[in-house]
Amino acid sequence: MSTILVTGGTGYIGSHTCVELIEAGHEVVVIDNLYNSNIHSLDRIKEITGVKPKFYEVDILDRKGLDQVFAENKIDAVIHFAGYKAVGESCEKPLLYYTNNIAGSINLYEAMKDANVKTLVFSSSATVYGAPKSVPIREDFETHTTNPYGTTKLMNEQILADVCAADPEWSVLLLRYFNPIGAHPCGLLGEVPNGIPNNLVPYIARVANGTLEFLRVWGDDYDTVDGTGVRDYIHVVDLAKGHIKAVEYALGHKGADYVNLGTGNGYSVLQVLHAFEKACGKELPYKIMERRPGDIATCYADTKKAKEMLGWEAEYGIDEMCEHSWNFTVKNPNGIE
Ligand code: NAD
Ligand code: UFG
Repeated sequence: MSTILVTGGTGYIGSHTCVELIEAGHEVVVIDNLYNSNIHSLDRIKEITGVKPKFYEVDILDRKGLDQVFAENKIDAVIHFAGYKAVGESCEKPLLYYTNNIAGSINLYEAMKDANVKTLVFSSSATVYGAPKSVPIREDFETHTTNPYGTTKLMNEQILADVCAADPEWSVLLLRYFNPIGAHPCGLLGEVPNGIPNNLVPYIARVANGTLEFLRVWGDDYDTVDGTGVRDYIHVVDLAKGHIKAVEYALGHKGADYVNLGTGNGYSVLQVLHAFEKACGKELPYKIMERRPGDIATCYADTKKAKEMLGWEAEYGIDEMCEHSWNFTVKNPNGIE
């Protein structure tokens, strides 16, 4: 049993990871500034697991606050989710993104170093592959970013690789997530987007519950099965379980390494829409629009490294991902409160 500090632990992926950590027998300490999440996530975690994680309302930019957390708890490893994640907003407010995701993260790594906690799992993203030359995407493919959000992920990867090169006591796993969707099967935890969603499944969920009129499908002239964009959607519970394997691996190894967390399967926008229609039991209106700038045709993971290195692979299929998203949407019309 280890004690894991989860930054961003009241957020979407962080809260699901807390559940899996507790169920795997680990102790969890959460920090979050509640910028994009609700304190009641902690009660939901308790409802599912019977354990309410110890919580600090701390901003990762607050060095004193971080030092206090490390002083008061014997942390073995950190899973670092805290950050901003909206691609469009990062283009409008790059300094906000670089401050939070880079300065905030460096602040955390400094606090870890001073507390002699040198094991870390970092939330990176498949966005670091830019427009890949081929699929499935392997971890050794070239990296390239097209927006400030993606650049913050790539810069964190570089910073952490340099930290590991300079000090052999560090152990860092950089997890490149594909497209996380879905919710906890019990309907107590899920994604609560702020405002009108940009991402596909949260948008479809709002069409299904009548909050939005129709889905805008961004282009149907890509070289894919039906012309719409293809992505590797992964159930958030599978993703969370990948973090347990990752942190346990990192605790037993040294150095930096990169691992894709995806399913290895690609689904088109219309295939996802139809899976969601099955889940909610009604036809959902959509209109084909122009392509969205910056989108690529197809993106899915090569999952061999995760299987071989971590002994992890995703289990849920697209139908369950949509069923669980819909279940969460129906049970939580006002989000987590
Ligand atoms: P989320 O917004 O639900 O969770 C992030 C949490 O971090 C929130 O609870 C927020 O309040 C907190 N936070 C933000 N800035 C903070 C700060 N300065 N100090 C303390 N807490 C802060 O997002 P998520 O979907 O759970 O994503 C978690 C991580 O995974 C992020 O780093 C994100 O970039 C990365 N990621 C997400 C996706 C995705 O599609 N959801 C894909 C790839 C990578
Ligand atoms: N799409 C629509 N209509 C919508 C929303 C999305 O047709 O209203 C389409 C997109 O064009 C794309 C697919 O649905 O083909 C998926 O789009 P998302 O916005 O859900 O996801 P992206 O693949 O564009 O990006 C996501 C995250 C990024 C992350 C990237 C890779 O938003 O932060 O996955 O992990 F970097």
